[in-house]
Amino acid sequence: MTHKRVAILLSGGGSNMVALVDSMTGDHPARPCLVLSNDAKAGGLVKAAERGVPTAYVDHRPFKGDRAAFEAELMKPLLAAEPDIICLAGFMRVLTAGFVSQWNGRMLNIHPSLLPKYKGLHTHARALEAGDSEHGCTVHEVTAELDDGPILGQARVPVLPGDTPEQLAARVLEQEHRLYPAVLRRFAAGDRTPVLLG
Ligand code: GAR
Repeated sequence: MTHKRVAILLSGGGSNMVALVDSMTGDHPARPCLVLSNDAKAGGLVKAAERGVPTAYVDHRPFKGDRAAFEAELMKPLLAAEPDIICLAGFMRVLTAGFVSQWNGRMLNIHPSLLPKYKGLHTHARALEAGDSEHGCTVHEVTAELDDGPILGQARVPVLPGDTPEQLAARVLEQEHRLYPAVLRRFAAGDRTPVLLG
Protein backbone atom coordinates (compact mmCIF):
# COMPACT_ATOMS: atom_id res chain seq x y z
CA MET A 1 0.00 0.00 0.00
CA THR A 2 1.23 3.49 -0.84
CA HIS A 3 0.89 5.74 2.16
CA LYS A 4 -0.37 9.29 1.96
CA ARG A 5 2.42 11.71 2.86
CA VAL A 6 1.60 14.18 5.64
CA ALA A 7 3.44 17.45 6.36
CA ILE A 8 2.71 19.08 9.71
CA LEU A 9 3.16 22.82 10.32
CA LEU A 10 3.58 24.14 13.85
CA SER A 11 4.83 27.11 15.85
CA GLY A 12 5.14 25.80 19.40
CA GLY A 13 5.31 22.74 21.62
CA GLY A 14 3.75 20.44 19.10
CA SER A 15 1.60 18.21 21.30
CA ASN A 16 -0.91 17.83 18.46
CA MET A 17 1.92 17.00 16.05
CA VAL A 18 3.09 14.27 18.47
CA ALA A 19 -0.45 12.83 18.62
CA LEU A 20 -0.62 12.83 14.81
CA VAL A 21 2.85 11.35 14.24
CA ASP A 22 2.35 8.66 16.89
CA SER A 23 -0.96 7.67 15.28
CA MET A 24 0.55 7.10 11.82
CA THR A 25 1.72 3.50 12.26
CA GLY A 26 0.48 0.04 11.36
CA ASP A 27 -2.52 0.01 9.03
CA HIS A 28 -2.86 3.82 9.07
CA PRO A 29 -3.15 5.07 5.47
CA ALA A 30 -0.64 7.92 6.02
CA ARG A 31 2.89 8.58 7.23
CA PRO A 32 4.60 11.85 8.27
CA CYS A 33 7.03 13.29 5.70
CA LEU A 34 7.95 16.67 7.26
CA VAL A 35 7.46 18.84 10.33
CA LEU A 36 7.88 22.50 9.40
CA SER A 37 7.93 25.51 11.72
CA ASN A 38 8.11 29.28 11.45
CA ASP A 39 10.27 29.30 14.58
CA ALA A 40 13.64 27.56 14.91
CA LYS A 41 13.06 27.30 18.67
CA ALA A 42 9.69 25.55 18.47
CA GLY A 43 9.71 22.61 20.87
CA GLY A 44 7.84 20.58 18.29
CA LEU A 45 10.92 20.42 16.03
CA VAL A 46 12.89 18.52 18.69
CA LYS A 47 10.00 16.14 19.34
CA ALA A 48 9.65 15.46 15.61
CA ALA A 49 13.37 14.78 15.21
CA GLU A 50 13.25 12.41 18.20
CA ARG A 51 10.57 10.50 16.28
CA GLY A 52 12.69 10.33 13.14
CA VAL A 53 10.57 12.78 11.16
CA PRO A 54 12.45 15.22 8.88
CA THR A 55 12.22 18.81 10.12
CA ALA A 56 12.70 22.28 8.68
CA TYR A 57 11.98 25.85 9.68
CA VAL A 58 11.56 29.19 7.97
CA ASP A 59 11.74 32.11 10.40
CA HIS A 60 8.96 34.56 9.50
CA ARG A 61 10.57 37.53 11.26
CA PRO A 62 13.12 38.65 8.63
CA PHE A 63 10.20 39.02 6.18
CA LYS A 64 8.78 41.85 8.32
CA GLY A 65 5.14 41.19 7.49
CA ASP A 66 5.66 40.38 3.80
CA ARG A 67 3.50 37.28 3.92
CA ALA A 68 3.92 36.40 0.27
CA ALA A 69 7.73 36.43 0.55
CA PHE A 70 7.62 34.33 3.74
CA GLU A 71 5.27 31.84 2.11
CA ALA A 72 7.50 31.56 -0.97
CA GLU A 73 10.30 30.36 1.34
CA LEU A 74 7.93 28.11 3.29
CA MET A 75 6.83 26.51 0.05
CA LYS A 76 10.36 25.28 -0.78
CA PRO A 77 10.78 22.58 1.92
CA LEU A 78 7.09 21.81 1.65
CA LEU A 79 7.21 21.09 -2.09
CA ALA A 80 10.42 19.11 -1.65
CA ALA A 81 8.63 16.83 0.85
CA GLU A 82 5.84 16.14 -1.68
CA PRO A 83 2.99 15.98 0.83
CA ASP A 84 -0.47 14.73 -0.09
CA ILE A 85 -1.95 16.28 3.05
CA ILE A 86 -0.88 19.26 5.18
CA CYS A 87 -1.91 19.46 8.83
CA LEU A 88 -1.69 22.80 10.59
CA ALA A 89 -1.13 21.95 14.25
CA GLY A 90 -0.70 25.10 16.31
CA PHE A 91 0.72 26.99 13.33
CA MET A 92 0.24 30.60 14.39
CA ARG A 93 0.82 32.48 11.13
CA VAL A 94 -2.11 33.55 8.97
CA LEU A 95 -1.73 32.11 5.47
CA THR A 96 -2.68 34.09 2.35
CA ALA A 97 -5.38 33.02 -0.08
CA GLY A 98 -2.67 32.41 -2.67
CA PHE A 99 -0.86 29.90 -0.46
CA VAL A 100 -4.03 28.19 0.72
CA SER A 101 -5.40 27.79 -2.82
CA GLN A 102 -2.35 25.76 -3.82
CA TRP A 103 -3.31 23.12 -1.25
CA ASN A 104 -7.04 23.34 -1.80
CA GLY A 105 -8.85 20.34 -0.28
CA ARG A 106 -5.57 18.96 1.10
CA MET A 107 -4.93 21.21 4.12
CA LEU A 108 -6.44 20.68 7.58
CA ASN A 109 -6.33 22.82 10.72
CA ILE A 110 -7.22 22.26 14.36
CA HIS A 111 -8.80 25.18 16.18
CA PRO A 112 -9.51 25.30 19.94
CA SER A 113 -13.21 26.17 19.81
CA LEU A 114 -16.49 24.79 18.54
CA LEU A 115 -16.44 26.63 15.22
CA PRO A 116 -18.10 28.77 13.96
CA LYS A 117 -17.81 30.16 17.51
CA TYR A 118 -14.62 32.00 18.51
CA LYS A 119 -12.49 32.25 15.40
CA GLY A 120 -9.07 33.76 16.07
CA LEU A 121 -7.28 33.93 19.43
CA HIS A 122 -8.11 33.63 23.17
CA THR A 123 -10.88 31.13 22.50
CA HIS A 124 -10.98 29.67 26.03
CA ALA A 125 -11.26 33.04 27.77
CA ARG A 126 -13.97 34.07 25.31
CA ALA A 127 -16.00 30.90 25.94
CA LEU A 128 -15.77 31.55 29.70
CA GLU A 129 -16.74 35.22 29.33
CA ALA A 130 -19.78 34.20 27.28
CA GLY A 131 -20.88 31.83 30.04
CA ASP A 132 -20.92 28.83 27.70
CA SER A 133 -21.72 25.48 29.29
CA GLU A 134 -19.72 23.59 26.69
CA HIS A 135 -16.63 24.24 24.64
CA GLY A 136 -14.29 22.15 22.52
CA CYS A 137 -12.23 21.93 19.38
CA THR A 138 -12.72 21.63 15.63
CA VAL A 139 -10.75 20.16 12.75
CA HIS A 140 -11.64 21.78 9.45
CA GLU A 141 -10.45 22.06 5.90
CA VAL A 142 -8.46 25.26 5.41
CA THR A 143 -9.91 27.85 3.05
CA ALA A 144 -8.85 31.45 2.40
CA GLU A 145 -11.13 32.65 5.22
CA LEU A 146 -9.51 32.41 8.71
CA ASP A 147 -10.76 29.46 10.82
CA ASP A 148 -13.44 28.69 8.26
CA GLY A 149 -13.92 25.86 5.78
CA PRO A 150 -15.80 22.57 5.90
CA ILE A 151 -15.85 20.98 9.36
CA LEU A 152 -14.28 17.50 9.49
CA GLY A 153 -14.68 16.86 13.19
CA GLN A 154 -15.52 18.33 16.59
CA ALA A 155 -14.99 17.25 20.18
CA ARG A 156 -16.98 18.75 23.06
CA VAL A 157 -16.02 19.26 26.70
CA PRO A 158 -18.06 20.64 29.59
CA VAL A 159 -17.19 24.03 31.07
CA LEU A 160 -17.00 23.48 34.84
CA PRO A 161 -17.81 26.02 37.58
CA GLY A 162 -14.75 28.08 38.46
CA ASP A 163 -12.78 27.06 35.36
CA THR A 164 -9.83 29.26 34.49
CA PRO A 165 -8.88 29.67 30.80
CA GLU A 166 -5.86 27.44 31.51
CA GLN A 167 -7.94 24.64 33.03
CA LEU A 168 -10.38 24.79 30.16
CA ALA A 169 -7.54 24.84 27.62
CA ALA A 170 -6.03 21.70 29.16
CA ARG A 171 -9.39 19.90 29.01
CA VAL A 172 -9.81 20.88 25.35
CA LEU A 173 -6.21 19.96 24.46
CA GLU A 174 -6.76 16.41 25.71
CA GLN A 175 -9.63 16.12 23.25
CA GLU A 176 -7.58 17.70 20.45
CA HIS A 177 -5.18 14.78 20.82
CA ARG A 178 -8.07 12.32 20.26
CA LEU A 179 -9.86 14.28 17.57
CA TYR A 180 -7.06 15.25 15.17
CA PRO A 181 -5.67 11.70 14.72
CA ALA A 182 -9.21 10.35 14.25
CA VAL A 183 -9.98 12.94 11.57
CA LEU A 184 -6.63 12.49 9.80
CA ARG A 185 -7.08 8.72 9.61
CA ARG A 186 -10.52 9.13 8.06
CA PHE A 187 -9.46 11.95 5.72
CA ALA A 188 -6.37 10.05 4.51
CA ALA A 189 -8.66 7.14 3.64
CA GLY A 190 -10.73 9.52 1.47
CA ASP A 191 -13.65 9.88 3.90
CA ARG A 192 -14.77 13.40 4.84
CA THR A 193 -17.64 12.39 7.09
CA PRO A 194 -17.25 14.52 10.25
CA VAL A 195 -15.87 12.81 13.37
CA LEU A 196 -17.98 13.81 16.40
CA LEU A 197 -16.56 13.15 19.88
CA GLY A 198 -17.73 13.98 23.38
C1 GAR B 1 -3.61 23.93 20.21
O1 GAR B 1 -4.51 24.14 21.27
C2 GAR B 1 -4.26 24.34 18.90
O2 GAR B 1 -5.62 24.04 18.82
C3 GAR B 1 -4.03 25.82 18.92
O3 GAR B 1 -2.72 25.98 19.42
C4 GAR B 1 -2.43 24.90 20.31
C5 GAR B 1 -1.12 24.27 19.87
O4 GAR B 1 -0.68 23.34 20.83
N1 GAR B 1 -4.17 26.38 17.61
C6 GAR B 1 -4.61 27.61 17.37
O5 GAR B 1 -4.92 28.40 18.26
C7 GAR B 1 -4.67 27.98 15.91
N2 GAR B 1 -5.22 29.28 15.73
P1 GAR B 1 0.43 22.25 20.44
O6 GAR B 1 1.62 23.00 19.83
O7 GAR B 1 0.78 21.61 21.75
O8 GAR B 1 -0.19 21.30 19.48
